[in-house]
Amino acid sequence: PPPGPMGIDPLKGVAKEMKFMTGNIRQLLGSGHPMLDTVSKYYTQSEGKYIRPMLVLLMSQATALLPKENTSTATRRIDEPISSPSVLSDTNPSSPLTGQETYTSENSADENVLPAQRRLAEITELIHTASLLHDDVIDHSVSRRGNSSANIAFGNKMAVLAGDFLLGRASVALARIRDPEVTELLATVIANLVEGEFMQLKNTALDEKNPTFSEDTIEYYMQKTYLKSASLISKSCRAAALLGEHSDQVVEAAYQYGKNLGLAFQLVDDMLDYTVSGVELGKPAGADLELGLATAPLLFAWKNNKELGTLVGRKFAEPGDVQRARTLVIESDGIEQTRALAQDYVDKAAQAIADFPDSQAKNGLLEMCTKVMQRRK
Ligand code: FPP
Ligand code: MG
Ligand code: MG
Repeated sequence: PPPGPMGIDPLKGVAKEMKFMTGNIRQLLGSGHPMLDTVSKYYTQSEGKYIRPMLVLLMSQATALLPKENTSTATRRIDEPISSPSVLSDTNPSSPLTGQETYTSENSADENVLPAQRRLAEITELIHTASLLHDDVIDHSVSRRGNSSANIAFGNKMAVLAGDFLLGRASVALARIRDPEVTELLATVIANLVEGEFMQLKNTALDEKNPTFSEDTIEYYMQKTYLKSASLISKSCRAAALLGEHSDQVVEAAYQYGKNLGLAFQLVDDMLDYTVSGVELGKPAGADLELGLATAPLLFAWKNNKELGTLVGRKFAEPGDVQRARTLVIESDGIEQTRALAQDYVDKAAQAIADFPDSQAKNGLLEMCTKVMQRRK
């Protein structure tokens, strides 16, 4: 990554933390059933981008320098391993488990990150990965992160069950944080992901027989986008600030940062589906139209070209529809409008944390705004 001002890489501050992330996550996913163990850990083998845990760690560090709101000293038993060496020994998940490495100071590097915030970072990645396992079944994906997707490698049944297993382990880790508000936030995220996916499956704002473009069209898309993508990022940033025992104002700033960054992130994702090759993406490009999905670039193109309405109505299902829609979008300013809207949200994200004290971590959060706009995959 390019060094920031004064030659400092703003993401360097979390590099050490991130180094332990994969190992810690794999530890949370241990199962005595060898096949379940393999399928559950499958997406942890290829290097993900770890955007959500990175944001949680940066937010934790960036807010660590702020004054605390209260001084709750609730005892937390979050450093115990929760994975079971064998399926049968897991009858009491809170009993001490033998032969398991515990989280030690060696794999917890930074004094500006609380153990609970570190666990939260791991939980966000577990929930995200669970949603990908399910998403790849729903989307009939064939590749993810440059490899075969789990549904192809292991079949739909095992991919779905592995996703459920990840959610189970994420829930146990969440319970061990012993913070009801944080638990509620992350549990809501799981529900939101499903709500977003349902909105995408069935667009109730659209009359399929007579699809017309209106402001509701964009509003429905943005609401779906919040639920599907920004909910996890925003609520986990909020949870990081809550665990740091910060004021309502700081908690809200963390949430606004995450919400706006998350919305921008998905807008860029929907743009890249039109602009970048499958090889670069590590997953098939142009997949949204093939799935019948009208995302931001197409919606903006539709606003000025009624012809797209017919194609939207039949979900690009007739021969030649996908190619026709793609051409109309690329010839329109839909991609540019999507980029501009994403930039607006990124600016709002940066604005939300403007009052945070200057730090390497704050620079990292600002750097993430730039990276979201520059990313190619
Ligand atoms: C990827 O989107 C998918 C999501 C962001 C969320 C998917 C949510 C579910 C499947 C609901 C179930 C949730 C849980 C927690 C089990 P995409 O398909 O647009 O992106 P892609 O190109 O990376 O596949
Ligand atoms: Mg998908
Ligand atoms: Mg999907």
